[in-house]
Amino acid sequence: MSDQQGQAATRTYPPDPELSKSANARPEMKEQGLEEFWDEQAKQRISWFEDYDTVLEWNQPYAKWFVGGTLNACYNCVDRHVENGKGDKVALHAVPDDGPDSPDAQDITFSDLQRRVVAFANGLRKLGVGKGVPVGIYMQMIPDAVVAMLACARLGAPHTVVFGGFSGKAVAERCNDLECTVLVTQDEALRGGKSFPQKVNADEGLDGGPTSVEKVVVFRRTGGDVPMGDRDVYADELMSDVSDDPSECPCEPMDAEDLLFLLYTSGSTGKPKGVVHTTGGYLTGVTTTHNLVFDVKEDSVYWCAADIGWITGHSYIVYGPLSNGVTSVLYEGVPGYPDKDVWWKIVEKYGVTILYTSPTAIRSHIKWGPEHAQKHDLSTIRILGSVGEPINPEVWEWYHEHIGGGKAPVMDTWWQTETGHILITPLPGITTLKPGSAQQPFPGLEFEVRDDEGNALGANEPGNLVLTRPWPGMMRGLYKDDQRYRETYWSKYSDAYFAGDGAKFDDDGDLQLMGRIDDVTNVSGHRISTFEVESALVEHEKVAEAAVAARRDPDTGQAIVAFVSLKGGNEGDDELKQVLREHVAKQIGKLARPAELIFASDLPKTRSGKIMRRLLKNIAEGEELGDTSTLVDPTVVEDMKKQVGAK
Ligand code: PRX
Repeated sequence: MSDQQGQAATRTYPPDPELSKSANARPEMKEQGLEEFWDEQAKQRISWFEDYDTVLEWNQPYAKWFVGGTLNACYNCVDRHVENGKGDKVALHAVPDDGPDSPDAQDITFSDLQRRVVAFANGLRKLGVGKGVPVGIYMQMIPDAVVAMLACARLGAPHTVVFGGFSGKAVAERCNDLECTVLVTQDEALRGGKSFPQKVNADEGLDGGPTSVEKVVVFRRTGGDVPMGDRDVYADELMSDVSDDPSECPCEPMDAEDLLFLLYTSGSTGKPKGVVHTTGGYLTGVTTTHNLVFDVKEDSVYWCAADIGWITGHSYIVYGPLSNGVTSVLYEGVPGYPDKDVWWKIVEKYGVTILYTSPTAIRSHIKWGPEHAQKHDLSTIRILGSVGEPINPEVWEWYHEHIGGGKAPVMDTWWQTETGHILITPLPGITTLKPGSAQQPFPGLEFEVRDDEGNALGANEPGNLVLTRPWPGMMRGLYKDDQRYRETYWSKYSDAYFAGDGAKFDDDGDLQLMGRIDDVTNVSGHRISTFEVESALVEHEKVAEAAVAARRDPDTGQAIVAFVSLKGGNEGDDELKQVLREHVAKQIGKLARPAELIFASDLPKTRSGKIMRRLLKNIAEGEELGDTSTLVDPTVVEDMKKQVGAK
């Protein structure tokens, strides 16, 4: 938890009366009962094949929503819009890595999307994919990734998307855990002008040991020459003889509680957790929150600049916006390439009205200066959103002023992979905004801040954030691990969901989020567990022991600092530092690469052999160390301190 986190600004921004008049969210929604609110939303926003008979069955810690109902997520995201006469509306403005002026930019209508999804679903069927057959997806931000997810949903095949920047090893682990027989990937990826060997990486992972994957389907992105073996098939070849007529591949009716997808996320210990999301509650949750939080209108042009490999991409690039039938931007690239103004070029070209991104991305733009945004007409922007980490008040103000023209309200949305959709957020036209605070529970929800003994805390008392009621998109457990689910989220308090975040209420009853309270770091809004990085480091032959802490970083929110002792008491040098940092990047993915690596003759341990993590955190932050007398060897920390240039 950093000093700048949890600091709300004193200046507030009351809602614009014009916006209040036309806003989708209505103040009375907050007065509705939990089931009444969600029942109304589910009926209004979702097309059910068969109506549900019970809104909620709550058997803590497992919820069932819309029991007895059947539906299909792909039908809701694609087919129903075509049937309702919106086939020619653009679903995706797909902007390639080289920007919106690229000849490869595509405007994909809902009808185009339907044809592509049907063709790919028919292709997958040839490989034995159908209802309940899990599929892995390891792709980057190209339209085919969205097509692949929707094709799975159409067939009732649960997908697990592995972030495209993760290592092949991470792909294999996740696919094997879910027993995927098919993996969908792309030949190569393009990010910031550089190519990334997606297929080769996948192969490396799958060839690293026994695997459940029997077929790898490869979409061509670059057309690069990649090795193709017996296991592999190009997507276009797979689809060469299939129909793209929707009547030849109807949407599979799914029970509301059937698995839609699994998404693996970092926990504080052990291997990544397979977070289970089902169909009816999840789709209702993401469709409703997307509609109300971003005040989506028929002519909105919406852009969520996240990645489909994370929950934000699942909920607010794919399922929420498409279910709402909105036109979205899908951007393959990174913020500063080919030019520092590429984002604003995209906003201007497509007339983006809603932009949803992370504080880390905004901080990059702040660093480059407002002149890049000023070169472009951003006057179409009505609503801004932020997600993934606490947003510093100064960053909020800059975003509001330079991107939102001093008008567009900023929605600071708090939620998690586990929660499926936004749970704490201001609402446009209703909430008086407070920079640095996510503020209010979404209608139907309740939060408390509790101390470790379970007492509810009052204003300005920091504690643990808990949720006391179920919500439709909540995870339905951890895949094949009921015990871990109960222990992680439901054991700290007997009657509430423990989110793992610190929070406090202010004098007005608004909530401020203060960062993780467990060993999960948040680098650029991405969750990485210290445990995973430590495990990757100790897998290296020269490493005896490793411990990882996070320090504040002005750009990425937090940065990873690794402390390493070497086998045989050897001393490390700069070259080995690089080798070990790269080793972590290879094992997990580049985003887990430690920003700093410090060699130590030993790690600071108590006499009972426990690594003193608090001390490592202090060292990483360059803070005073306080009492070190319980250490076996207090001199080890002196040496570490010198290496980080601490006091
Ligand atoms: O610590 C919180 C932080 O991100 C964590 C969830 O990470 P993940 O499951 O990867 O999902 C990220 C996107 C939803 C939370 O436990 N977090 C997310 N949004 C905010 C936030 N912290 C503060 N303010 C937010 N708006």
